[in-house]
Amino acid sequence: VVIGDGAEIARLAADVIEERVRARAAIGSRAVLGLATGSSPLAVYDELVRRHHEEGLSFAGVEAFMLDEYIGLEEDDPRSYRNVIEQELVSRVDFTPGDVHGLDSHAEDIPAACTAYEMAIVAAGGVDVQLLGIGADGHVAFNEPGSSLASRTRLKTLTAGTRADNARFFDGDVDAVPRHCLTQGLGTIMQARHLVLVALGRAKSEAVHQLVEGPVSVLWPATVLQHHPHVTVLVDEGAASRL
Ligand code: GLP
Repeated sequence: VVIGDGAEIARLAADVIEERVRARAAIGSRAVLGLATGSSPLAVYDELVRRHHEEGLSFAGVEAFMLDEYIGLEEDDPRSYRNVIEQELVSRVDFTPGDVHGLDSHAEDIPAACTAYEMAIVAAGGVDVQLLGIGADGHVAFNEPGSSLASRTRLKTLTAGTRADNARFFDGDVDAVPRHCLTQGLGTIMQARHLVLVALGRAKSEAVHQLVEGPVSVLWPATVLQHHPHVTVLVDEGAASRL
């Protein structure tokens, strides 16, 4: 666990990603990144964009997989996670078109799409660095409390609390927040080789406390990360205030 201010956290997370991208490129192979949405990773993406422009960090050939997606938004809705990641990162750097994969919430056969997504991650060689945020209730991606710690990519129902938290992205209108989503499972996320979790602000302090110090439990899904061999938790003073 590293405690720092927002800028330090963004730099440290970007360091992990940059190191992996450059190391893979140096041996002629492709890095595979796991991308998260939510507000926590935004400064990390800004830092990666800066390094792209100023330090020649290239994402050409890097493959990326997103964590989750709402169900029920139009394809062109700016709040869909696919469009958010496009706007916050992908369109600002040099990913090769088609190398950034998202969950297809418009698929006719959702379970088949989820299975195909799992297989695509495996076919890519697995995720090297997975960026994560954490919900105030301890969810990672959209694995809400009660999620199986071994879960795979699937459809989930959002809790009232998460919908209320995310209403800020929907003009404060909780009724506009989708009720369902697709999400990588906790078991899927646990297969990434390095997890980098960013948590900012006091509202995350209980979740961070449980993540780091609590017993592993489906009641706090993020606690499963305690079983992962390589996790970096980057938190600000507020998020660290109950450690
Ligand atoms: C959202 C996302 C998660 C994210 C979390 C925290 O619901 N599905 O991937 O980590 O909630 O979001 P934020 O960083 O905006 O607080």
